[in-house]
Amino acid sequence: MAVKIAVFVGSLRKESFNRKMAKALIALAPESLKLEIIEIGGLPLYNQDYDDEGKPPPVWSEFRNCVKIYDGVLFVTPEYNRSVPGVLKNALDVGSRPYGKSVWGGKPGAVISVSPGSIGAFGANHHLMQSLVFLDVPTMQQPEAYIGGAAQLFDASGQITNETTRDYLVKFLDAFAAWVAKNSSKNR
Ligand SMILES: Cc1cc2nc3c(=O)[nH]c(=O)nc-3n(C[C@H](O)[C@H](O)[C@H](O)COP(=O)(O)O)c2cc1C
Repeated sequence: MAVKIAVFVGSLRKESFNRKMAKALIALAPESLKLEIIEIGGLPLYNQDYDDEGKPPPVWSEFRNCVKIYDGVLFVTPEYNRSVPGVLKNALDVGSRPYGKSVWGGKPGAVISVSPGSIGAFGANHHLMQSLVFLDVPTMQQPEAYIGGAAQLFDASGQITNETTRDYLVKFLDAFAAWVAKNSSKNR
């Protein structure tokens, strides 16, 4: 049976290259991985008072319960000012609390960063990994995916036009499938 992977996109833009990438990954994924995008744009900014008062916004609770059922997590993110876009950091923060009840711990993960620029959002990718270390998400080290030149990457229907990039993403997904199988908490 396929393992379920929650995909988080760090951009809310309608024509987001990262969302196009997430959709392309869903189509390229091996049968053993079922990728689903979890929307994060409607999560109110994290405020610890709501948890301390025992009244978290219902959408936080829905999000936390939703993430719990997934076997792994895949982050597809742009870079904002050399770091992780606020919307994605906020989703990480919301999922990490209340203290001791993080939904992230132990879920195997991977990061793909996408930018029109030439260094493929390397800074966001590594800043995100820094949080994932703390959140105890066993994150795939290799292969890495810093995808640059995003403005030339997709055709009008969202297909990846560059065969080399497409082949690389297939390899990435195969490696991720193996990584999830090896690190899944169900297998521990
Ligand atoms: C606030 C902001 C900051 C940005 N900073 C960076 C950056 O540090 N590095 C980079 O490569 N691109 C940067 N960009 C450009 C984004 O890579 C570009 O807008 C990209 O298309 C965003 O991803 P999306 O297409 O998935 O929305 C920035 C864009 C915005 C709006």
